[in-house]
Amino acid sequence: MLDKIKALREEIKQLTAQTADEAEHLRIKYLSKKGIISELFNDFKTIPSEQKREVGQVINVLKNEAQEFINGLKEQFADTQVKGAGVDLTLPGTVMKLGSRHPLSLVRNEIVNIFARLGFNISEGPEIEDDFHVFTALNFPEEHPARDMQDTFFIEKDPDVLLRTHTSSVQVRVMEKTQPPIRSIFPGRVFRNEAISARAHCIFHQVEGLYIDENVSFADLKQTLLYFAKEMFGEKTQIRLRPSYFPFTEPSAEMDISCTLCGGKGCNVCKYTGWVEILGCGMVDPHVLEYSNIDSEKYTGFAFGMGIERITMLKYQIKDIRLFFENDVRFLEQFKASI
Ligand code: PHE
Repeated sequence: MLDKIKALREEIKQLTAQTADEAEHLRIKYLSKKGIISELFNDFKTIPSEQKREVGQVINVLKNEAQEFINGLKEQFADTQVKGAGVDLTLPGTVMKLGSRHPLSLVRNEIVNIFARLGFNISEGPEIEDDFHVFTALNFPEEHPARDMQDTFFIEKDPDVLLRTHTSSVQVRVMEKTQPPIRSIFPGRVFRNEAISARAHCIFHQVEGLYIDENVSFADLKQTLLYFAKEMFGEKTQIRLRPSYFPFTEPSAEMDISCTLCGGKGCNVCKYTGWVEILGCGMVDPHVLEYSNIDSEKYTGFAFGMGIERITMLKYQIKDIRLFFENDVRFLEQFKASI
C-alpha cells in the first residue's frame, strides 16, 4: 500500500494539462468521489490497524499534494475563464447608450436662454384653462368669429373648461398677479383640434413673450425680435414684419425671417419667396391691459408668440412635424447637445 501511494505521488507530479478541460479531467480522475485517491481511502479500511496510523498520514499527504497540484494546473487557465460560469472576461463589455435631450427641449432651452439674456424671466400657466383666460380676457368677444381662428378642444360638456389653444392665456394669468414692469416668457404645450399632417399636429409647443412698462414702443418689439432672430438663426438673418390681426394686440404683425436654407434666394422651404414666417406679435391692446387691472394710460407693452416645432424644423431642416411625437430613437439620437 505504501509503495502504491509513493508511485501515485510521483505520477501526479508529472501530470500536465493543455486546456482547462484537461485539468478538470485530471481532477475527476484523481480527486472526485470515485477517483483514484478516494478508492485508496476504501482500501485503507481493510489494512491491519497497527499500520493505519502511518498509512493514514501518507494518504492525507498524497491527497493534499494532489489537490494543490491539480488546482495549480487549473489556475493556469483561470485568467480567461471564470470557473463554471463559462464567461469570457476578455470579451468587450456591453456599452450603455447615453440618452439625449429631445430636440424640442433643446430648442426651447435655447429660446429661453436668448430671452433670459435680455432680462426676461419664465412664467407658466395651466394647460387646462377656462374660457376667460384663453379668449374673453384677450379681447375675443363671445360669439366673435375670431374664436374660430383656433379650433378648440373642450373638456367634457362644460364649454367653460378647455385645453388652451395658445400660451397667450399665460399673459392674462401673469398680468392678473403682477403689476408692471413685466418682462416674462412662457414656454408651454398647446392644443388645437386640427387634422394631423406633416405640417400640423393637435398638440404642439409655443413660447410666448410679454413686456409691459412705461414707454414701451413698437421699436422695442422690433429690436427685441431682431436680436432673437440673429441669436437663434445666425448673424446674417434678416426679419420682416407684415401687418396682421390678433384680437389682443393692436397693431399686430407676423414676423418672417430670411430663409435659413437658401438665405433669401428662394427654395422649396420658403416656397421661392426668400422668407419664412416664424411668429405672431403686436402691441398689447389697451383693452387687454384693462381686463387685468393694468393702467393703460400709464403702461404700454408688446407680446409675441412662436411655435417651437416650427423653429426646430427650420433650424434642423426637419420635414415632418409628426417625427417629434413618435419617439423613434433613430430620430431622437441625432440631437446631442450640452444644454
Ligand atoms: N397667440 C398667437 C397664436 O397662437 C400668437 C401671438 C402671441 C400673437 C402674442 C400676438 C401676440 O397664433
